Amino acid sequence: MSEQLSWWQKGIIYQIYPRSYQDTNSDGIGDLPGITRRLDYLQKLNIDAIWLSPIYPSPMHDFGYDVADYTGIHPMFGSMADFDCLLNEVHAHGLKLILDLVPNHTSDEHRWFVESRSSRDNPKRDWYIWRDPAPDGGPPNNWTSFFGGPAWTFDEPTGQYYLHQFVTQQPELNYRHPDVLPAILDVMRFWFDKGVDGFRIDVVWLMWKDEQLRDEPPNPDWQGGDPHGKLRHIYTQNLPGVHDLIRRMRALTDQYEDRVLVGEIYLPFDQLVQYYGSGDEVHLPYNFHLIDLPWKALVIKAAIEKYESLLPGDAWPNWVLGNHDRTRIATRVGPEQARVALMLLLTLRGTPTTYYGEEIGMENVAIPPEFIQDPPAVNQPEVADIVGRDPVRTPMQWDATPNAGFTPADITPWLPLAPDCQSRNVAAQEADPASELNLYRALTALRRAEPALHAGQIETIDPGTGAGSILAYRRAADGADTFLIVLNLGQAPCRLDLHHIAPAARIELSTAMDRRGEVDLSDLAIGPDEGVILRLGA
Ligand code: GLC
Ligand code: CA
Repeated sequence: MSEQLSWWQKGIIYQIYPRSYQDTNSDGIGDLPGITRRLDYLQKLNIDAIWLSPIYPSPMHDFGYDVADYTGIHPMFGSMADFDCLLNEVHAHGLKLILDLVPNHTSDEHRWFVESRSSRDNPKRDWYIWRDPAPDGGPPNNWTSFFGGPAWTFDEPTGQYYLHQFVTQQPELNYRHPDVLPAILDVMRFWFDKGVDGFRIDVVWLMWKDEQLRDEPPNPDWQGGDPHGKLRHIYTQNLPGVHDLIRRMRALTDQYEDRVLVGEIYLPFDQLVQYYGSGDEVHLPYNFHLIDLPWKALVIKAAIEKYESLLPGDAWPNWVLGNHDRTRIATRVGPEQARVALMLLLTLRGTPTTYYGEEIGMENVAIPPEFIQDPPAVNQPEVADIVGRDPVRTPMQWDATPNAGFTPADITPWLPLAPDCQSRNVAAQEADPASELNLYRALTALRRAEPALHAGQIETIDPGTGAGSILAYRRAADGADTFLIVLNLGQAPCRLDLHHIAPAARIELSTAMDRRGEVDLSDLAIGPDEGVILRLGA
């Protein structure tokens, strides 16, 4: 079983936000040579693939998600030679490299949009979504931007509005025009030919829009918070036409050996799993449910069961705790519980993705108002705390030098370092056997070594009465040892009777890293914020 799986099934993906990983040319911004320099560290994390947020030329209105040239490298990150060197070194370290593909929109500085905007009869006019004003001169419909305000911007010279669901400088491509998808497929070919191992596809579930551009209805469930939630996005999200686009991207991908497509998709499970198609769409539609669900054992147990029951055919699951858009896990659940979260992520069935810094328990960093840079927060100061993403994008904490080893002491990093970076950093945690980093390494090493953990089945277990904060499941694979995972998602100690599973077992790893050896399963003690992995044997 284990042997038949691909690297993206058995392995672990690690997301790097390149601006924040490692600066090598002292401009306070991370770069590609910085990532190359840290490959030994990444290899020792026992991860298998690196996903890089965008590294392409960009005016950086959305920090690289506004791409001005899909086949270049932003000089701030380095040169194409630096990229080639990184790719080579990644492969030499036995790792894979996944790039971010941003096909829904370009930068307004992309040559396609410059042409499109130049006149109404330019051949590229309809590569983007242009419409006449409404009779009152306002936008063509009520659609809103994720980053505040209308999703339309008026272009004076040509007298029409163009669509953008993010910043004004991110005009959306029109996939109803027959030449647009082929242009994006060419981009994919360019990187595949270089040897890139896959793409994470940005907002893939947004790529197809209602042809009639109908108004979206109000969302009766909106309870304040992010203003974009005021409407039900039934004409801009998850439209059936998107699946045909994805199938064509997959068909191209399948012409290359062993590549992967990961889709960014925020949807309920029943709709999310449709993005596997019949094995002909994305390999991994990102499952963000651990980010959004209340951190409660029963809720997560139900989610695991529901997801597993809905996965079609041989669709491969995946799980995520955080990314560059969402609150860091250690801030959401607290630093102690974050260790349990790591154990959960790395023992569930399916490909885990780690967001850089999770392995050392990095938290959100409060950004003083004058340093806020992220467009949704800048555009909507009244909800900046809810929508701003700067706090989760701060520089990686490497050591106890003044800028934590990210950039030299006399340089101002692009975002401030965390206040705890002198104590919470890679160097300090390397020296501490019980640190998050050493827990992470132990978890990834065990996952890699044990077929049950990287390839086996999963079965949730009822932990018994009075154990409401306990999440437990079994992982098993033919011909390999079975494991029992018991996680306390709460802060009260528990005693469990699990003798119906086995009389005794061996603690292989605990989140506190202070317990090992045989235990009696009829009276298993679990501490507050503790998780344990038990070996049940073959
Ligand atoms: C995705 C990215 C996010 C970006 C947006 C627009 O959600 O993850 O960072 O702002 O798309 O490209
Ligand atoms: Ca730099």
